[in-house]
Amino acid sequence: MGAAGSADRTKIVGTNACAECHKQEAEALKGTHHFKTFREMPRDAATNKIAKAMGVRRVKAESVCLNCHFTVQEKGGSAEPISGISCESCHGAGQDWIKVHSGYSGKTAATETKSEAAARWKQAEAKGMIRPGAVYALAKNCYSCHVVPHEELVNKGGHLPGSAFDLVAWSQGEVRHNTWHSKGKDNVAASAARRRMLYLVGLGVELETALRAIGKASARKIYAFDMAARADRARKQLAAAAKAVPGVPEIGKLVELGHAGALKLNNEGALLAAADGIAKVLEAISAKYDGSTMSGLDTFIPTPDKYKGQARAAAAVK
Ligand code: HEC
Ligand code: HEC
Ligand code: HEC
Ligand code: HEC
Repeated sequence: MGAAGSADRTKIVGTNACAECHKQEAEALKGTHHFKTFREMPRDAATNKIAKAMGVRRVKAESVCLNCHFTVQEKGGSAEPISGISCESCHGAGQDWIKVHSGYSGKTAATETKSEAAARWKQAEAKGMIRPGAVYALAKNCYSCHVVPHEELVNKGGHLPGSAFDLVAWSQGEVRHNTWHSKGKDNVAASAARRRMLYLVGLGVELETALRAIGKASARKIYAFDMAARADRARKQLAAAAKAVPGVPEIGKLVELGHAGALKLNNEGALLAAADGIAKVLEAISAKYDGSTMSGLDTFIPTPDKYKGQARAAAAVK
């Protein structure tokens, strides 16, 4: 398995570089498990057990743990963990796009034309930026860590086989930092339409990730069982969603693909083909819909009392 998240280690600039302009977002990050894991995970009693079972001597040295718990910067051939999970773990490594995305095409926010702005964003995305609007790409990063698609780490290391993750509940609590477009006045909750997109695409990515994991699994042990249970649960939730929103035929297609390969070992070809198909449909959904026609999903979507942790209150920027 490669690094989880989409961050290319050689192109990591680090949170401080983002915080120069994004002060509020950086403050919000400090209140999260993502930030604190850098200091706390290596001291956790559970870490010792997992590390020992995995033959890892120091979790901050080159180890499997780096991929999900830390942000790693590679310079001159040596790799160094510089923080916990950070801006670039979710928005993509910044080196190639940081100037582009913020430069207003060499003009100002007021003088840049609409088509210049569109071209700027297109260029930033081509250089690896993951914007909030790219729901599929965003979700892929979350699940690449939170499903814990790593057989040895789970079966041999005793690591949790993933989180009981839901993209709405897990993005709208402590992780939320929608303070930029309100100029720091408010930490704006995702709109109802956007929550539907997060819910639907999140479920699809969970199914995709679990199918890939089963395809690669080699032992009839906890990892394979857990991934199969995860895939089956996601399929059932998607089937309910398909019924509730008949106007979005793509959801039915996801369910169909979810059943295209049996959830068993030694079935890699069929499972990976199904996962690839799901990825295509999800990209299409992410590009075509904005959630406004999907109110049928509202009864399934976690309510604020289910959100993971507390969103930081915004403090107006001075
Ligand atoms: C020099 C100032 C500056 C720096 C440094 C900076 N940004 Fe930004 N960022 C901006 C500006 C300005 C915008 C809004 C541009 C617009 O609305 O057209 C923005 C917008 C964004 C958005 C929202 C995009 C959207 O679709 O609305 C994200 C996400 C983001 N930045 C992430 C980052 C990350 C991650 C870093 C560090 C790797 C970073 N920024 C560094 C100035 C900066
Ligand atoms: C594929 C991604 C992934 C890898 C690799 C990984 N972890 Fe984790 N780990 C997670 C996630 C996600 C959680 C959070 C689970 C939850 O709370 O739902 C977690 C939670 C933990 C926890 C409990 C929470 C805490 O931080 O106190 C410990 C301990 C831990 N991991 C240790 C390790 C160690 C040690 C390694 C390397 C041997 C490792 N992890 C590798 C994804 C990963
Ligand atoms: C755990 C993943 C994650 C991390 C870490 C993260 N972001 Fe985000 N970011 C997101 C998601 C998801 C959204 C969209 C949330 C929503 O729709 O409610 C977002 C939205 C944004 C926005 C748009 C805010 C607005 O007002 O609409 C900006 C700007 C941004 N992030 C910048 C940053 C910066 C800078 C950092 C680091 C200090 C950072 N993000 C860390 C996932 C992350
Ligand atoms: C690079 C890997 C990685 C990515 C990407 C990632 N996470 Fe995490 N996340 C973790 C790990 C590891 C932990 C556990 C940290 C700990 O407790 O030590 C965690 C913890 C959390 C927690 C706290 C859970 C609790 O115990 O209360 C939330 C909420 C969360 N993540 C949401 C998200 C969301 C939403 C996204 C995507 C927008 C995301 N994460 C992306 C690795 C990741």
